[in-house]
Amino acid sequence: MVRLRSVALAALPIFLCDAFEYYTFDGPGFPSCHNISKVYNATSVDDIVSIVKSAIKADSQVRASGKGHMWYDTQCSDDSTVLIRTEDVNGIYNFSLPKGATEGSVVVDGGVSFFQLAEYLHERGASVGYTLTNWNISFGGSVAMGAHRSSLREHSMVAAGALALDIIDGQGNIRHIERDNSNDEWLAASTSLGLLGIIARIRLQIYPDTKLYAKQDTLDESAVLNGDIYGLIAPYATANFWWWPYKRKFHHRYYDVVPADSTPQQGFQNTFSLTSIEGIAARTLLDSGKYLATSNMLAEEIFFGLWSKPNFHEKTNNTEIAEWPVYGWNYDVLIGGLYPDQLPEWDYDLHGLTLELAFPVTMANQMLKRVRKLFDAELAKGIVMTSTYRSGINIKFGKPYYDFLGQVTYNTSDGADWSKGAIMFDFPSYRPTIGDHKRFNEPFYPKLAKTLIDEFPCRPHWTKNSREVLKMSAKNLDPSHIRRFKAVRQQFDPNGIYRSVVGEILGLY
Ligand SMILES: Cc1cc2nc3c(=O)[nH]c(=O)nc-3n(C[C@H](O)[C@H](O)[C@H](O)COP(=O)(O)OP(=O)(O)OC[C@H]3O[C@@H](n4cnc5c(N)ncnc54)[C@H](O)[C@@H]3O)c2cc1C
Ligand SMILES: *[C@@H]1O[C@H](CO)[C@@H](O)[C@H](O)[C@H]1NC(C)=O
Ligand SMILES: *[C@@H]1O[C@H](CO)[C@@H](O)[C@H](O)[C@H]1NC(C)=O
Ligand SMILES: *[C@@H]1O[C@H](CO)[C@@H](O)[C@H](O)[C@H]1NC(C)=O
Ligand SMILES: *[C@@H]1O[C@H](CO)[C@@H](O)[C@H](O)[C@H]1NC(C)=O
Ligand SMILES: *[C@@H]1O[C@H](CO)[C@@H](O)[C@H](O)[C@H]1NC(C)=O
Ligand SMILES: *[C@@H]1O[C@H](CO)[C@@H](O)[C@H](O)[C@H]1NC(C)=O
Repeated sequence: MVRLRSVALAALPIFLCDAFEYYTFDGPGFPSCHNISKVYNATSVDDIVSIVKSAIKADSQVRASGKGHMWYDTQCSDDSTVLIRTEDVNGIYNFSLPKGATEGSVVVDGGVSFFQLAEYLHERGASVGYTLTNWNISFGGSVAMGAHRSSLREHSMVAAGALALDIIDGQGNIRHIERDNSNDEWLAASTSLGLLGIIARIRLQIYPDTKLYAKQDTLDESAVLNGDIYGLIAPYATANFWWWPYKRKFHHRYYDVVPADSTPQQGFQNTFSLTSIEGIAARTLLDSGKYLATSNMLAEEIFFGLWSKPNFHEKTNNTEIAEWPVYGWNYDVLIGGLYPDQLPEWDYDLHGLTLELAFPVTMANQMLKRVRKLFDAELAKGIVMTSTYRSGINIKFGKPYYDFLGQVTYNTSDGADWSKGAIMFDFPSYRPTIGDHKRFNEPFYPKLAKTLIDEFPCRPHWTKNSREVLKMSAKNLDPSHIRRFKAVRQQFDPNGIYRSVVGEILGLY
């Protein structure tokens, strides 16, 4: 963390002198907040309560911080804020999955990460099913921000796996809220954006552990753009596409359950780890792609080739798995983690920007064709657009799940049919380490966002969009959802101590 303007402001009050930036997982140069006065490593729920109470006395803003796995400077407001890190508030309690039961529950503190709970549950023959995000992310941060995996058949919003929440409100009191769709408090808390308070504990639904297969096919672009997209995704426990726009191909990935005794394989997935040779080669090529379309074309060719093979190792001896389908335990196959001898890509200075919007799945073909038309319009000008991300453009899906601010809610005033679920367009792109850090053909990206937001009833992911994109998308949200959310917010946090840029953009203050 750097101290901003500490010399220039030396004569001003202490809280100004000490304002510093806080960074996302991407580190320096990638602020999530601009005006932090202090960061606390809380050690327990009671500790969080006492830090919140002292911040209230000091008239300071407060936000929780999980694992920093967000992309933009939208975590806090721009006013002086105290951050409370939850990483060390990570107890797991009251595991219950009686023998023979089809479901049970467990209570986690807000700072528990997916891999921590997965290991704990696997040792006890259980899993959280499909309500997942990536490995080094906290449950508190995921539930707060409406994070999700990809499925039309099964619930895959992390919040959909929550049965009850304990939230530390704006007065420092702990409020317990049980799942109850007839209660506006629950419908607001389910995707709260951290605006009701700090999620201290979550009671989660769990299931007996299962083995899964993972399989992947390569499809021609036209087979998806003109195909039965719903039919390619809905049959599976979880499924998604990765789009390679220069290659005009899609990878179609899908997963489902197999009998646990049907295979000895223990596949372990990796989406983000690289060897240092791969990391340096990718950075060199992608940096030159800031100026040269041919570098981006070569990069997409290489990434596509690598991504066609299973990105799995055998967990027991870390050897590569060469053939689809791959089999293994639920969490290892769906998420996995880092290979023992590798680092995540951001540790090699490979960073991305992204954009994620959700559309009614009934408009899936129309939306993807619109994006293709925008790519082709660039091509007509002689500009080749590509995916500059190692796994292509991520196309995910979501089963409908009702709350006020979730990406897959339904029954909204836009009149769109969200009842079949949503398709998410998640377009990560390489941010060059050189020059002004602007991407190849930078103006294309805001134009793409604006076109989609203006032409479709789409909704933003709450941590994968810039302030500008959030501002543009606010008009697509249901005013009655905003109003009912705000009423609950005013009740939980009357003085707005948990305010964030996202909440401000939505008009909740
Ligand atoms: C590599 C990577 C992969 C990802 N994969 C997915 C994915 O598959 N699907 C998906 O939907 N998202 C994904 N994300 C986004 C991620 O799930 C969200 O950004 C999530 O909010 C990050 O949680 P965190 O614990 O890192 O929290 P942070 O990044 O620290 O915080 C995120 C926001 O949540 C708030 N917050 C954190 N903890 C709490 C709490 N206990 N109570 C209240 N508010 C809180 C913070 O104030 C902040 O506004 C991914 C991100 C990365 C970097
Ligand atoms: C909080 O924990 C982080 C990560 O372990 C560490 O880098 C930081 O120095 C700690 N801060 C304080 C004030 O102890
Ligand atoms: C998870 O994130 C923390 C930061 O909160 C970091 O210290 C740790 O190294 C990460 N673990 C992995 C496996 O990436
Ligand atoms: C931080 O917020 C305070 C108000 O809380 C404001 O006066 C100050 O200008 C802000 N500083 C920065 C660096 O934004
Ligand atoms: C665990 O269960 C006991 C008994 O029902 C309850 O009193 C306690 O509050 C629970 N613990 C947590 C952290 O939810
Ligand atoms: C790794 O383990 C798998 C599964 O047990 C086995 O088939 C394979 O031969 C092992 N490879 C090595 C190099 O030990
Ligand atoms: C849908 O909205 C209508 C009108 O606001 C309401 O009466 C109905 O209960 C809602 N249905 C669900 C499932 O929320």
